[in-house]
Amino acid sequence: MATLATRLTALLGIRHPVLLAGMAGGPTTPELVGAVSAAGGLGVFGVAGMSTEAVHDAVTRARAIAGSAPIGVNVLISPAVPRPGADPDRVAEVLAPLRAELGLPHPPPAGPTPATPLELVQAGLDAGATVVATGLGDPAPVAGAARDAGVPLIAMVSTVDEARIVVQGGADVVVAQGGEAGGHRSNFTVPDDAPVPLVGTMALVRQVVQAVDVPVVAAGGIMDGAGLAAALALGADGVQLGTALLVAREAGVPDGWRDRIRAARDDETIVTRALSGRPARGLPNTLIEALDQPGAMGWPQQNAAAGDVRRAAAQAGRADLMSLWAGQAAALAGPDRPAADIISQFVQGAADTIARLGRISGG
Ligand SMILES: Cc1cc2nc3c(=O)[nH]c(=O)nc-3n(C[C@H](O)[C@H](O)[C@H](O)COP(=O)(O)O)c2cc1C
Repeated sequence: MATLATRLTALLGIRHPVLLAGMAGGPTTPELVGAVSAAGGLGVFGVAGMSTEAVHDAVTRARAIAGSAPIGVNVLISPAVPRPGADPDRVAEVLAPLRAELGLPHPPPAGPTPATPLELVQAGLDAGATVVATGLGDPAPVAGAARDAGVPLIAMVSTVDEARIVVQGGADVVVAQGGEAGGHRSNFTVPDDAPVPLVGTMALVRQVVQAVDVPVVAAGGIMDGAGLAAALALGADGVQLGTALLVAREAGVPDGWRDRIRAARDDETIVTRALSGRPARGLPNTLIEALDQPGAMGWPQQNAAAGDVRRAAAQAGRADLMSLWAGQAAALAGPDRPAADIISQFVQGAADTIARLGRISGG
């Protein structure tokens, strides 16, 4: 197979410069994380929202599949985002009929206190994770744990300013998340009442590469080897894949979500605060419509409020009531296939693209 050796592959000890985005809420199963790492990429768990016991168990299972290859854990470090006019009773009223439809108790029973990002990272490291990754905030709360464990810290950002902040805070790798990206926007410096920064991947990656000295990983809208080659051409040392790996066989993604990804139009995804109280890109559905109301709360209250509905809907395969995070290039996802095939198609496709460009340039 073709090889693409970069500063990132050397730093992380991986064969291919391809990272699985930690995707909290189900997609990053132990099987997916283990398969990506075993295939030479970096498998990363999205562990936000899990208990420390579940993290320990999941990382242990992924580690068994990955063998000696590195694996990572990803946490969300978002400060609380209060929302003026938040009305928990109004949100509960909206959720009541959806719970009835899914056979869930209303109101839902109180859950355990969520583990902190540091506790989640520690549980992952104890179970054998060898990389710490963060999104949605300044990684400072977990930087010490990564340093003490002697493992690389990867931090995701959405602006050049944020890139400088996370490098100063100890990040060894910066993920530049372009506006095309599926899932939550990783901005943490722009106030909630200001427009959401949606700097496109091409514009952001090139500027972040020039602003920091550490390896930069491009994320957002990268769906095949041509996208990987384009990221390398911009000076990135690798890519982070969310949507492209949602159709991996091993991903914890119900069929209804996979179908919506493949059928998506380029202009169909929306950036909405309705599901979690923070801006995130996904495909519109009934749940977003229902929650997009005056009285919607901020992060993390809004995220927690409909958690039981989203989980039950995912289990029941109800694409209308789960979260359908996806990036703008979702339609390029292709058929369901093993993660190892997706990784090798990326690497081969990038090598082919680079060879084709070499011929264009006339050397
Ligand atoms: C379903 C889904 C869940 C995500 N969850 C997380 C997460 O838990 N932590 C994180 O840092 N990024 C998360 N992201 C964002 C990714 O890190 C990445 O920025 C994005 O997927 C890249 O764009 P793409 O989807 O077009 O590949 C998620 C993305 C998706 C699609």
